[in-house]
Amino acid sequence: MLKKKDIISISDFTKEEILYILKTAEEMNKKDCSELCKGKILATLFFEPSTRTRLSFETSMKRMGGSVIGFSGEESTSRSKGESLYDTIKIVEGYADIVVMRHKVDGSARLAAEASKIPIINGGDGSNQHPTQMLLDLYTIKQSQGKLENLKIAMVGDLKYGRTVHSLAAAMAMFNAEMYFVAPEQLQMPNYIIEDLQKSNINYHIVDNMQDVIGKVDILYMTRIQKERFPDLQEYEKVKNVFILNKKLLETAKPNMKIMHPLPRVNEISEEVDIEPHAYYFNQAHYGIPVRMAIIALLLGCVK
Ligand code: CP
Repeated sequence: MLKKKDIISISDFTKEEILYILKTAEEMNKKDCSELCKGKILATLFFEPSTRTRLSFETSMKRMGGSVIGFSGEESTSRSKGESLYDTIKIVEGYADIVVMRHKVDGSARLAAEASKIPIINGGDGSNQHPTQMLLDLYTIKQSQGKLENLKIAMVGDLKYGRTVHSLAAAMAMFNAEMYFVAPEQLQMPNYIIEDLQKSNINYHIVDNMQDVIGKVDILYMTRIQKERFPDLQEYEKVKNVFILNKKLLETAKPNMKIMHPLPRVNEISEEVDIEPHAYYFNQAHYGIPVRMAIIALLLGCVK
C-alpha cells in the first residue's frame, strides 16, 4: 500500500493509510522480523540533534536485518564545505535504499523527496512537521485508550514551534477528537492549523492554564518550550517555565488519563510524576520501534 511513498507530512496520509501502518506495527510487534529487510540500507541524515528519532530508526532497521549508514550533525559532512541538500540527496540515493532526514529548515524534507529516487522519511523539518512521531503518538494513544475515536486531548506548552503537535492535531482531527490547546498567547497553535480544524468542524478550546483541563481529558500531551527556535532569547526567558506538571496537579485526573511527551523534557514534567500510573512518556518513546519498523518495511515493500 505504501511502497515507494515518502513520509513528509500528515497531509500525505489518508485515515485508511494511517490505520494500516498502525495495524502493521501491531502485527510486527508480535512476530520475528529479523530477516525482513536483509540486504537493505537505511541512511540517517540528521542535520539537527536527535536521540529518539535517530536511534529508534537505527534500531528498527537493525531488528529487521538491515544495515544503517549516516551522520549526526552536518559539521562532519561536505555540507560544511558548502554542498547543497539537493546534491547530498542525489549522492545518498546511490548508497542507500531509504532515507530518514532531520533538518532545521521547514519544507526541507519535501525538497529532499522531490530530488530523491528512493523514499524519504521526514524525521522533523524545522517547526513544521514530524509525521513519524505523529504515527507513534497515535499508536501510543490506541495502546493506552483502546481506541482513537472521540477522545479528549490537551496539548500543552509550545504549540507554535512544536512540530509534533502540528502533526498530531491534524491526525486527531481525523478521529474526531475534542482538543484543548494550552499555551501562553505567544506560543499558541498556528492559525493555519486552527483554520483546518474549523473547516472540519472539530471541537477545540484555546486555554491558558493546565489546571482547568487535567480533569477533562484522556490524554495530556506535554511539550518542551523550544528554546532553539526563539528569535529573541528574552522572549524564551519569559515563558520557559510557564507550565510545570507535578503530582499535585494530577489529583483531578481521570483514572486512565495518560501523560504523553515527545521528549526531551526540560522542566515541564517533574520527575516525581514518572512513577505515577498516568505517566506514559517512556512507553511512548519505546513504541517508536514497532511503528518505525512498520514504516521502513512498508516503504521498502518488505511487508505488504
Ligand atoms: N521526539 C523526538 O523527536 O525526540 P528526538 O529529538 O530525541 O529525536
